[in-house]
Amino acid sequence: MLELLPASAAIEDGRLHLGGIAAASLAAEYGTPLLVLCEQTALAQARAYRRAAPEALIAYGTKALPNVALLRLLAREGLGADVSTLGELRFALQAGVPPERLVVHGNNKSDEELRGAAEAGAGLLVLDALEEVDRARAAGIGRVLVRVTSGIEADTHEAIRTSQHGSKFGLPADEAVEGIARARAAGLEVAGLHVHIGSQLLETQAAATTVEWLAAFAARCRLELDGWTPDVVDLGGGLGVRHVDDERPPAAERFVAELVRDLERAWSLHDLPRPRLVLEPGRSLVGRAGVTLYRVGVVKRATESVTYVTVDGGMSDNPRPQLYGARYAALLADRADEPPAGRYSVAGKHCEADTLIAEVELPAPRRGDLLAVPATGAYTLSMSSNYNALPRPAAVLVADGAARVIRRRETLDDLLALEVGADASG
Ligand SMILES: Cc1ncc(COP(=O)(O)O)c(C=O)c1O
Repeated sequence: MLELLPASAAIEDGRLHLGGIAAASLAAEYGTPLLVLCEQTALAQARAYRRAAPEALIAYGTKALPNVALLRLLAREGLGADVSTLGELRFALQAGVPPERLVVHGNNKSDEELRGAAEAGAGLLVLDALEEVDRARAAGIGRVLVRVTSGIEADTHEAIRTSQHGSKFGLPADEAVEGIARARAAGLEVAGLHVHIGSQLLETQAAATTVEWLAAFAARCRLELDGWTPDVVDLGGGLGVRHVDDERPPAAERFVAELVRDLERAWSLHDLPRPRLVLEPGRSLVGRAGVTLYRVGVVKRATESVTYVTVDGGMSDNPRPQLYGARYAALLADRADEPPAGRYSVAGKHCEADTLIAEVELPAPRRGDLLAVPATGAYTLSMSSNYNALPRPAAVLVADGAARVIRRRETLDDLLALEVGADASG
C-alpha cells in the first residue's frame, strides 16, 4: 500500500501519517472528506521532470487540480502552466506564474478567453481549429502552436484519449498544414506543433510512436510550407499514476528521458533543427501527492458477497469511478496494521449507485473509522460537483509536520448564496 501513498506517508503503530501528521488529527481538525496533498511528492515529481528535461518548459496541466497555492509552489520550481479556460488562466496569474510560461489551450475558446490570453501576454496559444486563426489574430494573440491529431490510439480509457482519428481536439494532418499556412499568412508567429495523445498512460510506446509521427509531419511541413519547421514541440501530458497495485506506470524521470531521446533521434533522422520541448504533465505531478480521507458511516450487508462501507462523500468529490471505471485502493487510516476481515464495496452518500471502490480488502470497518483513498490528487476535486447540495471538501497541503489549508471547505451558506430569492422575503 505504501507504494500508492505519497512519499511522506508512514504507518506508525497502525496509524497513517501524512507529511508527519496523523491522518486522524488532520480529519479531526479540518473535517472530512478532506483532500490531503503531500508537498514533498508534488515537488519531487516536478523536480524529476526538470531533471530529465532541463531545457524544456514544464507547464503544469492545471486541470488536474486548479489551486493557486499549488500553482505557486510549482512556479517556484520553474514550472509554467497549461490553462484551458479563463478560470484556469486567472488561477495561474493569481499564483504569479510568469506569463511567458503560460500555454493556453481549449477546443472551443471564447473571444473573451482569446483576449484574456493576449492581455496576459501568454507565451503560447495552441490553435485547435481553423476558424481560430482569424479570431486569435483579432484578439491580439502573437505566438501560437498548432495542435495536430496524430491518429495514434493511446492505450487508455476512450474518455481520456485525445489524438485518435475523429478526436474533437486538434487538427488532422492536412488541416494542420493548412492551419499553419493560414496562421502565418494572417501574421501570427507559428512557433511550433502540439500533440497530446491522452491521459493515464501506463507505458511509453504510444508516446514514442507519436514522436516519430510528429517528426515525419514536421518534415512534411518543411516541404509544403516553404521550409517552415517547428521551433517548439509540445508533447502534452499523459503519464499515468498508480491508483491500484496492478497499474505500473513508468517513473516520470524515465518517461521524460525516453521522450527526449526519441525526439532527438526522430528529429535527426529527418534532419530537422532541434526544437524547444514543452511538456504539460498534470496527473503525474499531483495524483500520488493526494490522499482523500473519508469518515465511514453505514456499514451494510447487501448480499452474501457484497457489504457496503458508506463514506461521507462520493461521486461529488470523485466522479472518476463512475465516469470511466477508475479503480482505487483504500485503507483504514487508524487500523492500517490489522489484517483484512473481508472484501468490501466502498460507496458514497449520493442518490445514485456511486460506488467509489468496487472491492477492497479491509479490517472489519465500523462507523467512525477513517478511510484513506490514495492517489486522489488529480482529477478529483477539479471534477467535483455539488450533487445533492453537498459542499465541496477542503484541501490541505502537508509537509514536515505542518498543514496548511489551500482550499477551504465549502459551506451550505456558500451554496445558498448562489440561490436567487433564497431569503425568506423571496
Ligand atoms: C492538452 C493537454 N495537456 C495536458 C494535459 C494533462 O494530462 P495529464 O494529466 O494526463 O498529464 C491534458 C489533459 O487532458 C491535456 O488535454
